[in-house]
Amino acid sequence: MNLFRIVYVSRAAGSVADGLLPLIDIIGVSDRNNRRDHLTGALLRHEGYFIQAIEGARVDLDRLMARLRQDRRHDGLRILSERAVEQRRFGDWAMVRLDAPPAATTFLEQHLDAPDAGARAEALLIEASRSMAVAP
Ligand SMILES: Cc1cc2nc3c(=O)[nH]c(=O)nc-3n(C[C@H](O)[C@H](O)[C@H](O)COP(=O)(O)O)c2cc1C
Repeated sequence: MNLFRIVYVSRAAGSVADGLLPLIDIIGVSDRNNRRDHLTGALLRHEGYFIQAIEGARVDLDRLMARLRQDRRHDGLRILSERAVEQRRFGDWAMVRLDAPPAATTFLEQHLDAPDAGARAEALLIEASRSMAVAP
């Protein structure tokens, strides 16, 4: 299977901007759908933004992106990075909610429009996922 990874940023809209329950709701549905579609990834919410990485087959990613673009819980969805990858970096999770590391603030305030924003966002999510290591 050709594997792709998409990293995007969007602005949380309405009640999903803060509070845990709306976020848990998204993770629940994502977990169910992404298992079905063999997608894996991570989602971080910080300062009113979502940063999400999703990886899997092109066709499944395209279907999810179409749903995400319709979802009114966020807007201004901007793809930061979209590329073929050799292996999954978030393979342990259909979708995991990550706590924002301190670097997330710097990224959102200073690097969102940088040419290397995609690589930075990816690195940020990978870094944040380290603290979520699955017990053996
Ligand atoms: C920030 C954000 C991230 C989301 N991530 C996913 C995801 O990884 N997988 C998914 O299936 N739905 C995700 N959703 C929800 C989708 O937009 C959509 O509501 C859902 O896929 C519809 O699923 P259903 O047809 O089973 O109800 C996300 C929504 C938001 C706002």
